[in-house]
Amino acid sequence: MRQALEEKIVSRKARVGIVGLGYVGLPLAVEFAKAGFTVTGIDLSPSKVAKVNAGESYIADIDQGVFKSLVDAGKISASSDFGVISELDTVNICVPTPLRKTKDPDMSYIVSACQQIAKYFHKGMLVILESTTYPGTTYELVLPMLESADMKVGRDFFLCFSPERVDPGNAQYQTHNIPKVVGGCTAACTEAGALFYRQALQTVIPVSSTQVAEMVKLLENTFRMINIGLANEIAMMCGRMGINVWEVIEAAATKPFGFMAFYPGPGLGGHCIPIDPFYLSWKSKQAGIEARFIELAGYINGQMPLFVVDKVQNALNDQDKPVKGSHIHILGVAYKQDIDDMRESPALDIIQLLERRGAKLSYSDPHVPHVRFDGLELCSDEAAMGKADCVVIVTAHSGFDYKALVGMAPLIVDTRNALKGVVSDRIVRL
Ligand SMILES: NC(=O)c1ccc[n+]([C@@H]2O[C@H](COP(=O)([O-])OP(=O)(O)OC[C@H]3O[C@@H](n4cnc5c(N)ncnc54)[C@H](O)[C@@H]3O)[C@@H](O)[C@H]2O)c1
Repeated sequence: MRQALEEKIVSRKARVGIVGLGYVGLPLAVEFAKAGFTVTGIDLSPSKVAKVNAGESYIADIDQGVFKSLVDAGKISASSDFGVISELDTVNICVPTPLRKTKDPDMSYIVSACQQIAKYFHKGMLVILESTTYPGTTYELVLPMLESADMKVGRDFFLCFSPERVDPGNAQYQTHNIPKVVGGCTAACTEAGALFYRQALQTVIPVSSTQVAEMVKLLENTFRMINIGLANEIAMMCGRMGINVWEVIEAAATKPFGFMAFYPGPGLGGHCIPIDPFYLSWKSKQAGIEARFIELAGYINGQMPLFVVDKVQNALNDQDKPVKGSHIHILGVAYKQDIDDMRESPALDIIQLLERRGAKLSYSDPHVPHVRFDGLELCSDEAAMGKADCVVIVTAHSGFDYKALVGMAPLIVDTRNALKGVVSDRIVRL
């Protein structure tokens, strides 16, 4: 079984399947297609399937021309029908792993995808879970859905976990050159998984188990979340003491060892950093360990939108204006610079908190034309900025004209140090 699979992989004859064609799945499909494989994407969203089949990329990091030529050459296609799995040799699962309102993992997407895969599963297949999840998911949840008396893992099929580490908007590190960690349920699974990734990606890092591979991703994102929490707490302290936190971090970062710069901001956003650590704390609680660093950083990071809103209110009050009735313009609403992703964006919390305090709101973001949540509906309106009492820089997109902003705004609250070096008593920094 394994030899036949490996021969198909090395000769590029293996039919590759990707379940979930989002920020993770579509770039992965492109890399395997570029490496010469024929890739079939499976997604429940009819519009994504239609766009893929029309050669239209909806992920900003994917070059439109390259994508169209791969689709036209028959190297990438998409379907909503899991029946195509009968024809596939490998399947990567890249479906969402959100949190429930209770901050417990929502495994429903993984379970539903695996139930569908199990229907069309056949001998000799390689299945790799890429969705970020708690340690133990692949072994405890996915394996029992696929294994049976005559389908033994490591012998009849191969199952791995490989964390996706893609960083949307990062021009230097993308799917092909971010080292790929992979751990299998058995040594044979790890070897098959590593061989598969080596065909399309630059560096592959095999680890001894699926649990190690799952924990790697959670360590990385927890490390980031906790350090951002520390930077935010230091920013609050500096604010009280009248110290410029940005200058402190910049100077500390000149130390050539033992320090890594993390920056404060208006709050966490995106599908990873605000969510993944809670997958770990949930599992850790089951193992009898309270994840105190995670809970504390989660609390501090969660306070940041309120901290920003208080800064806005105080800055307006200093100009003898109440927040109620003032026009506040939010500059940038995506959760980070130069991308269009709004998931978990702190801009939404800031807008909502200011609205509740009676402010009149507008926003502009070249990447996000509309914002609709909790009964609020706004359209990006650049012209409104010129009439605002206060502009709050929430996302420092590189395309903004900061010079013009400084020239026109009566008050600016800069949560990202976008106006680094500009001296003005109309600028309030985090
Ligand atoms: N976005 C990132 O930057 C990033 C980075 C690293 C890891 N991750 C992780 O990767 C996973 C996927 O994230 P994403 O950002 O690509 O999500 P996404 O929402 O962009 O894409 C997920 C896709 O899966 C589809 N889908 C949902 N349920 C399905 C099912 N049962 N069968 C088939 N398709 C289904 C959705 O329609 C969607 O197109 C998550 O676990 C996430 O935490 C994301």
